[in-house]
Amino acid sequence: MSLEKCTAREKEMLGYINWEKMPGHVAFIMDGNGRWAREKKMPRVEGHRQGVEALREIVSFSSDINLRAVTFYAFSTENWRRPSSEVDFLLNLPEVYLEKDLPELVENNIKITATGEMEGLPTGTRSAIEKALEKTSKNTGMILNLAVNYGGRAEILRAVRMMAEKAKQGELSPGEMDEKLFEGYLFTSHLEDPDLIIRTSGEQRISNFLLWQAAYSEFWFTSIYWPEFSRLHLIKAILEYQRRKRRFGGVHT
Ligand code: FPP
Repeated sequence: MSLEKCTAREKEMLGYINWEKMPGHVAFIMDGNGRWAREKKMPRVEGHRQGVEALREIVSFSSDINLRAVTFYAFSTENWRRPSSEVDFLLNLPEVYLEKDLPELVENNIKITATGEMEGLPTGTRSAIEKALEKTSKNTGMILNLAVNYGGRAEILRAVRMMAEKAKQGELSPGEMDEKLFEGYLFTSHLEDPDLIIRTSGEQRISNFLLWQAAYSEFWFTSIYWPEFSRLHLIKAILEYQRRKRRFGGVHT
């Protein structure tokens, strides 16, 4: 683990972590970029730009503390409703980020994956993501999953349609359809369900994120805006997660 960048406080807090009880997959709803910018009297897009810096730090730290997977909700199917200048800016961010960070991600053995409707993305965004998928496809370290043009309901419907198509072709019968099979049709078929979902900015809702996959996730909310989310917040979230009793519908042990 490389903790060179950690502050004394972060190192102290890391001392409380139970390394046997780490979440495998942590997913982030990065909210509050606009409010962060407004409070600083800056344009909204500055909040998104600073949000990428926070993401960059969290990706590197998550890999250092050996998380198996992290997912970031970068652009939802509902985000198309924003002004077109903001949509363009947001959709350009994966390209900007990957352009700069891909060599380091490759070197750190991080495997990039993407969930969402790639067909609906601008060519530049799509090819930057496709290049990153290809360049990191053989990596065996942490999975960095980017949810871009992603919506949970659309994902479920897409899976249902694909199964219905198979059934129509006579390749699948209703009796064969179970949870495991269904999960194979989701964008996230390569990922374990998120153990922990973190949402910033004080909002406490799921906003069409990983609807199926979040069935037993633990949630951690903070009033911090995403651009200010730091390693220390992630450590706090993990410590809180480790205090929770996960029952998966069963009884306390
Ligand atoms: C919500 O804040 C945030 C988003 C819609 C986008 C988040 C995206 C990033 C931080 C960058 C992703 C980058 C990569 C490289 C994948 P908001 O604008 O809704 O904030 P507000 O609620 O305060 O207005």
